[in-house]
Amino acid sequence: MKIDPTTITIKEVGPRDGLQNEAVFIPTADKIAWVNQLSHSGLSYIEVTSFVHPKWIPALADAVEVMSGIERVPGVTYAALVPNVKGLERALAAQVDEVSVFMSASETHNMKNINKTRQDTYPILAETAKAALAAGKTVRGYVSTVFGCPYEGAVPVEDVIRVTDALLEMGVQEVSLGDTIGVAHPRQVQEVLEVLLRRFPAERLAMHFHDTRGMAIANVLVSLEMGMTTFDSSLGGLGGCPYALGASGNLATDDLLYLLDGLGMQTGVDGEKLREAARLIQEKMGRPLMSHSMQACQGQEG
Ligand code: HMG
Ligand code: MG
Repeated sequence: MKIDPTTITIKEVGPRDGLQNEAVFIPTADKIAWVNQLSHSGLSYIEVTSFVHPKWIPALADAVEVMSGIERVPGVTYAALVPNVKGLERALAAQVDEVSVFMSASETHNMKNINKTRQDTYPILAETAKAALAAGKTVRGYVSTVFGCPYEGAVPVEDVIRVTDALLEMGVQEVSLGDTIGVAHPRQVQEVLEVLLRRFPAERLAMHFHDTRGMAIANVLVSLEMGMTTFDSSLGGLGGCPYALGASGNLATDDLLYLLDGLGMQTGVDGEKLREAARLIQEKMGRPLMSHSMQACQGQEG
């Protein structure tokens, strides 16, 4: 195994990608307490919430209150998802540090998720990114359904390139490649990255795996071998996309940390503090978290 990078950035998306898919509404004060605990675990990046339409994602209807209510630990970037200028305005009022715009590589998922064709989405995201940059914020971009679409199946890599090009053209710093429904497998990740890395530097890309079929950690390993250094994950494996049937939890931050620690890579994250944060949200959710690391902990405790 040949892995060059020694410092890896973990972007914690649990408070957004995790909670957006939960049937129970986690009270605002509990969300704030959880983000505050995450802030003290050594993570440098937390996607706190999303400023989408509350009718589309009721679980995060309290985005303004959460973003305004959290403690700001120096050195931590507090980010949020925004679909358009209306969402951006709410995010700016709540003192967001960075915003993420998002769209899908496949047409049908884009329609189901944000109610627009891909062609109609570009100007909306461009306008949003421009306004965010003008407000002095950094912008991240997500491409969803990179490795497969729940409605269309296989997604041509040319479509991923087209969306990535467009996002970078809009001024996003980094494009996160979403395996929205967790269908990617290691060989596919290698093949897709081989194509993308001919065109885009690894520093401009991040990997966003869901673990629906248990492949997320294997996909991380291949991505590391290909030189990728930024991974999105969700504590305890919370997560999913309500507009992608079959999208289950994200790659678990605690499982990712176990792998990276084992490989001797630097993340700056304290495993024990992360577990404390996991226990807190588990208690608030009233169900066990499904990550392997949390299951192992519970096995040892019980
Ligand atoms: P729409 O209904 O087409 O919106 O929804 P519209 O622009 O036609 O406006 C309709 C009404 O919504 C208007 O109000 C707007 O003001 C209002 P009215 O005039 O009728 O009173 N509105 C808003 N209100 C609050 N906040 C806003 C906002 N925008 C418009 N931001 C929209 C379009 C994009 C808003 C909607 O489809 C939406 O909110 N979708 C979000 C879906 C979502 O959050 N999905 C999950 C996140 S993506 C994901 O999980 C994948 C990812 O993790 C990566 C991966 O795994 O691949 C990122
Ligand atoms: Mg996701």
